Amino acid sequence: MQLETLCLKTNAIVLETGAFIRAQASRLEEIEIEEKAANNLVSNVDRHAEEQLVARLSELIPGSGLITEEQTENITGKTWEWIIDPLDGTTNFLYGIPFFSISVGLRHNGLVVAGAVYEVMRNELFYAWKGGGAYLNGKKIAVSSRSSLRGSLLATGFPFHDFSLIQPYMQVFSYLMQNTRGLRRLGSAALDLAYVGCGRFDGFFEYSLNPWDVAAGTIIIQEAGGVVTDFSGGSNYLFGREIIASNPHIADQLRNIIQQTFKQTRE
Ligand code: IPD
Ligand code: CA
Ligand code: CA
Repeated sequence: MQLETLCLKTNAIVLETGAFIRAQASRLEEIEIEEKAANNLVSNVDRHAEEQLVARLSELIPGSGLITEEQTENITGKTWEWIIDPLDGTTNFLYGIPFFSISVGLRHNGLVVAGAVYEVMRNELFYAWKGGGAYLNGKKIAVSSRSSLRGSLLATGFPFHDFSLIQPYMQVFSYLMQNTRGLRRLGSAALDLAYVGCGRFDGFFEYSLNPWDVAAGTIIIQEAGGVVTDFSGGSNYLFGREIIASNPHIADQLRNIIQQTFKQTRE
C-alpha cells in the first residue's frame, strides 16, 4: 500500500477514536481515574481508546509492531511499527480543559514516515507522510517564517515528574520569557508540535517526553518545512527524551540557548 493511502486510512481510524473520546468528554464524572505515578493520570477512556486504535491499526498493517503508552501491546523489532498515544493531554481532558489529542506515528525500518495528530474538541486533524507534505483538515500547512527569537511565540511543557534538569530548564525559561514574544504551556506535547507544523507556534522544546508524545508531531513538522533536533542538535529526539522543534530560521538561536545552558549542568 502507498504511504499516502496508509496515512489517509490511519486518519479515518484516528477520527473514529476521536469521536469516542469527544463523547466521553461530556460525562467526565463517570470516568474512572487512576494515578499511574505521581502526577501521571490515566483513565478508562485512555485505555479503551488505545485498545480501539491498536485493533484497527494492526488490521491495517498485519504483523506490524506497536509502541503504545498504555501498553495494550508491546511488539518491537518489526519493519512497520505504530507509535501511539491514545490521549495526549490526559490531565486537561480529566479537568475539562478542551486541549488534548490523539497521536499516531508510523515507522518503517526505524524511520518515522507518517503521522496524525487529532485535536479532538476542535476537530482539527494534522497529518503528514514522508515526501507528501503536511496537512490540516486537507489543506497544506507550513511552519512560520518568523526569523528572530524576539518576535517568536514558543511553547514548552513543564517538568512534572522528572525534576533532575529543573535548574537549566528554569534558566532557559527565564531567558526565553525575557527574549521572546511569549511562552505557552498548553498541556499536550503532540499538539504543541502540530501547532509548530502549522505556524501557530514558532518553536517548542521539552525534556522527558516519550516516543508516543512526539513521533507523529515530528514528521508533521519536517514535512511542513521545520527542524527537529535533540538538545545537542542531533537526531536522538524520538527515544532521547529531549526535543526542540521550530521553523528553520530560529532553529540555531533556540538550540544554542538550550544546548549551552543544559551543557553547563551536565559538565
Ligand atoms: C503529557 C502531555 C504534556 C507533557 C507531558 C506528557 P499525557 O502526555 O504531552 O503536554 O508535558 O510530558 O506526558 O500523559 O497526557 O499523555
Ligand atoms: Ca502523552
Ligand atoms: Ca497519553
